[in-house]
Amino acid sequence: MVLSLHLKNKKITMSVHKEYKKITTHSLQEMKIRGEKISMLTAYDYSMAKIFDEAKIDVLLVGDSASNVMHGHETTLPITLDEMISHAAAVIRAVNRCLVVVDLPFGSYQGNSKEALNSSIRIMKESEAHAVKLEGGEEVVESIKRILTAGIPVMGHLGLTPQSIYKFGTYEVRAKEDAEAQKLLHDAKLLEEAGCFALVLEKIPSKLAKQVTELVKIPVIGIGAGSDVDGQVLVSHDLLGINKDFSPKFLRRYLNLFDEIKGAVEQYIADVKSVDFPNEKEQY
Ligand code: KIV
Repeated sequence: MVLSLHLKNKKITMSVHKEYKKITTHSLQEMKIRGEKISMLTAYDYSMAKIFDEAKIDVLLVGDSASNVMHGHETTLPITLDEMISHAAAVIRAVNRCLVVVDLPFGSYQGNSKEALNSSIRIMKESEAHAVKLEGGEEVVESIKRILTAGIPVMGHLGLTPQSIYKFGTYEVRAKEDAEAQKLLHDAKLLEEAGCFALVLEKIPSKLAKQVTELVKIPVIGIGAGSDVDGQVLVSHDLLGINKDFSPKFLRRYLNLFDEIKGAVEQYIADVKSVDFPNEKEQY
């Protein structure tokens, strides 16, 4: 819940939140009901996941954006199920508190619902993650229902769905036109009815994201979808400024780690070359 007080003409905004020892899908549902915003970030490795979990992030997404930021591919399409499981297992080894959701990568679920179930079982069994996420609306409803029969929680993803980049042709804002907006509202309802525990909305007009958030009872987490949703997700490399090439309007960069790390490495190289490192105290 967000409380706004007006003290001496100054607006003070405070968020009231419950302390959770462990975040589950039920905690997220409670947060939506209470009006507490959900914080979510991507993570792909042990060390970063440990920091994010200690900072008390609510949800870590082992996103298929690993294909871009960890493997250097241009799109999310090339990353494999084995690679996603390896990233997810590393993240799981690091965390104590947050909920870990893993993206089903391109080609691991679109074939049919049995393939979707088998890929989800592999993720859950081999990485010990807590939930899976997949992209799409009506066309993946059957798969979502089948995955749920195994007791695996599913997060949906609508709006800009990067696995369909070659269908869209661009990474521009989706659902600006009425027909696509109506389909998105319809899909959101179908995903809720199918049993998704939450929904990601990527790069859509904030007015439409607000409508979806009011339409469905499950938590809606936005990326480039404005503030009238139940929570926010960002790709951690973008937020930390590790990745300098990506600067969409919706991104807030909290650090400039690319330059900071580069500066530190340049200093290290200079210290090695000049025999400043190691000094007397740094040797046995
Ligand atoms: O793969 C990813 O990082 C994602 C987020 C952008 C939501 O799906």
